[in-house]
Amino acid sequence: MRRAVCPGSFDPITNGHLDIIERASRLYDVVHVAVLINKNKQGMFTIEERIGLIEETTAKLGNVQVESHNGLLVDFCRERGIPAIIKGLRAVSDFDYELQMAQMNHGLTGVETLFVPTSPTYSFLSSTLVKEVASLGGDVSHLLPATVHRRLVDRIAERSG
Ligand code: PNS
Repeated sequence: MRRAVCPGSFDPITNGHLDIIERASRLYDVVHVAVLINKNKQGMFTIEERIGLIEETTAKLGNVQVESHNGLLVDFCRERGIPAIIKGLRAVSDFDYELQMAQMNHGLTGVETLFVPTSPTYSFLSSTLVKEVASLGGDVSHLLPATVHRRLVDRIAERSG
């Protein structure tokens, strides 16, 4: 089985994430989506909610497994025999930090990182920006799967009400 992992915070999953996961799912037998727990970041969605939204939106692909992980990404990979990390690169500005992480991860366990250029449609897209725009009343419906958009709008309404 050829395995790869798409890691991230996914707070929440966007069409940009989905594009990378879909493309990875065509290249590998199994794609693990790892929702990394970051105790220093207060999320809009709980880890369980994020997992639920990813499962819902990737179910059609048939070879995607979603899990959370608390700790190093390289340990997630080692425990599951995953040799490759797939990362989307939106712009040159992503490259510095991504290269640093790729080299660190490779140095730690030999795991490879493969960069996939983000579709130009989503090159400006991040979960952080989507949350900010939606919180201020902007329309982000074209940037998220419909179910995720509904949940985001509801969550913002709950928080402001
Ligand atoms: O969606 P994000 O927040 O840009 O994803 C970043 C993430 C979660 C992939 C990265 O921070 C990560 O790999 N965290 C796991 C902890 C870890 O392994 N840190 C060392 C990186 S070299």
